Amino acid sequence: DQRRGTSLSFGARDKAKRCQETEKEYNLVFEDEIKFIKSLPLAGTRKKTEKKTKEQKKEEDSNQEEDEEEKEEPKVSEFKKKTMTIQEVQRSLSVYPCRGSLLAAIEEHQVLIIEGEPGSGKTTQIPQYLLEHGYCQDGKKIVCTQPRKVAAMSVAARVAEEMGKKLGNEVGYSIRFEDCTSEQTKVKYMTDGMLLREFLVDPSLAGYSVIMIDEAHERTLHTDILFVLLKDIIRFRPDLKLLVSSATLDSAKFSDFFNAAPIFRIPGRRYPVHIYNTRSPEVNYIEAAAITVLQIHITQQLGDILVFLTGQEEIEACQEMLTEHIKGLSSKIQELLILPFYANLPSDMQAKIFEPTPPGARKVILATNIAETSLTIDGISYVIDSGYVKQNYFNVRSGMESLVVNPISQSSANQRAGRAGRVRPGKCFRLYTQWTFENEMEENTIPEIQRVNIGNVFLQLKSLGIHDLINFYYLDPPPAETSKLALEQLYALKALNYKGELTSMGRKMAEIPVEPMMARMILAADQHKVVEEILTIAAMLSVNGDIFYRPKDKAIQADEARKNFFHPDGDHLTLMNVYNEWVGAEYSQQWCNEVFIQHRSMKRARDIRDQLVGLMERVEVQLSTNPGDSVVIRKAITTGYFYHVAHFSKCGGMYETVQKSQTVTIHPQSCLTENLPPWIVYHELMMTTKESMCNVIVIDGKWLLEVAPHYYKDNEEDVRN
Ligand code: CDP
Ligand code: MG
Repeated sequence: DQRRGTSLSFGARDKAKRCQETEKEYNLVFEDEIKFIKSLPLAGTRKKTEKKTKEQKKEEDSNQEEDEEEKEEPKVSEFKKKTMTIQEVQRSLSVYPCRGSLLAAIEEHQVLIIEGEPGSGKTTQIPQYLLEHGYCQDGKKIVCTQPRKVAAMSVAARVAEEMGKKLGNEVGYSIRFEDCTSEQTKVKYMTDGMLLREFLVDPSLAGYSVIMIDEAHERTLHTDILFVLLKDIIRFRPDLKLLVSSATLDSAKFSDFFNAAPIFRIPGRRYPVHIYNTRSPEVNYIEAAAITVLQIHITQQLGDILVFLTGQEEIEACQEMLTEHIKGLSSKIQELLILPFYANLPSDMQAKIFEPTPPGARKVILATNIAETSLTIDGISYVIDSGYVKQNYFNVRSGMESLVVNPISQSSANQRAGRAGRVRPGKCFRLYTQWTFENEMEENTIPEIQRVNIGNVFLQLKSLGIHDLINFYYLDPPPAETSKLALEQLYALKALNYKGELTSMGRKMAEIPVEPMMARMILAADQHKVVEEILTIAAMLSVNGDIFYRPKDKAIQADEARKNFFHPDGDHLTLMNVYNEWVGAEYSQQWCNEVFIQHRSMKRARDIRDQLVGLMERVEVQLSTNPGDSVVIRKAITTGYFYHVAHFSKCGGMYETVQKSQTVTIHPQSCLTENLPPWIVYHELMMTTKESMCNVIVIDGKWLLEVAPHYYKDNEEDVRN
């Protein structure tokens, strides 16, 4: 059994106690806290427990005492909570008693910083209060921004439910490539990125009476940029109210930024959360998380568990381990509902996490960082924290951005722990050591503006007429190196001229809600008359989530099916084949199932494509098609992505990026893994064990001189060889 031992890196190996049941075995992750696994009423272990030593017996008794102690801890009756009406729930939130004073403060001040614990009702209640208080006169709307699209969708759905209205009517949401609002919409939840886009259309945001920048503490790039723009707007729109809400204690910084705006604190209480650390670093935190869930489930009183992992793959792996382990356990243990929660989960599945846990059962939610502050799930008493988060990181030296798994900050770890203490005292199990917490974690999360590629945002700011981006007044400025690189890249893409002014190409690029390179590719498609093809490719590349479906038990069939779509010139064209065949199959779900394609991803690609097609008129691009001409399609791609070129170095037997001579490999899922062409363009780099290029196409090195002569002319010799 491979599972055996892998998690034994935890603390004193010799002391680890095990639960043995039908060959299943797992180790104690938090042995101090969770004792007596052996004596649990599991089938087949009864005999053993009868032969308890005196010592064990003593330990057990003391444990029972502990349990009794716990029962006396104050707690909201879960049952009562479940039977509460919507109105009762609303009244139980900590923002409710402040309703009057909050509205008065908003009335009095143009800018108000609102601070309150997650789950106090800021996001769902405040916009409703404003609506009831008459802030939506003359067709004006209330807008509330969210850093994440899932949060925007989920919260809008909740508020519509609370108001007894259909989602998309009075209450709606707007996220990239999806607008669920209508003429009647008064309360609009949207991603911060979408509000930033709206500036391009209407720089005074005349349609809104109140703008609530929610989850400000997350300090996303878009939120930070919105601050700068809003600071400017409020000067000439005295009727506009600006609310900045945050779940942490960094409100002073926001207040300073907005000329000492007052801070409104929503009083709330947090119950104590006992924190447990592992004794030594954990090698496999996914497995450790699964084991800890089971230990809690078996030894701790009821209460739901929230596990923080970094992404869909990890969540699925953990879910699988748990399901596997549960099968081996006795039917006598209480029911354990395992619910995943990540951005790409279908919304009906997402809604499940908010459903009350059935009596006698326990819910375990495997979530990404979204559950840290954005969404509050009631009834959580235990938190398991992997200590990691997936973030975008821009490496100035290599000039590349990649999604990497990083340790969280101390403040993030504390937020996560706090999720266990909302309704009663809780416990947080950290899958890392106290030493790691103290010495290896940053105190605060670095704001996104300081760690990502800001090319896209710079392009938008330029098109808003802001020229001096370097000396702009930011909450925290982007690093000088990153700014310089972003400007250089926009210049190379011909979005800016040599004076740093926006070109007509740049203006069009800013209109398309995709990253500059992709926007450039789309505009290049017009020259080459392959707009339909490139829009398909752009849409397929923009789908978050897998296109191909590869269940473990049918991996061979799935791989075979995938190969049938392979295009000899690369993955972009393979993706185009998939899309076109799906169109040929009349968008059939059954077809998708038969050929191991994710129907949901395809539907999403279709939506994105439709949106892009709809935008073409605004950028004066006419639809054109030439599906058979792989060369021009690839040239259009290269025109946008000439920064992403890698060359096969014969001596090293490896690919090297042209821009920074970084050693990279082709991702094993690519269709180009057999004959390695000398020149390739990749869509993105992914940091796994090594840097691998995802989605690649074959190109001819000479094209580089054709599509980006300004960029490659100094390397003319190399490119021709
Ligand atoms: O924004 P803040 O963290 O202050 O709280 P909120 O998101 O407004 O959540 C207030 C309450 O609404 C919490 O108790 C949530 O559990 C509940 N809620 C819910 O039941 N379903 C949702 N989809 C969203 C929130
Ligand atoms: Mg909130």
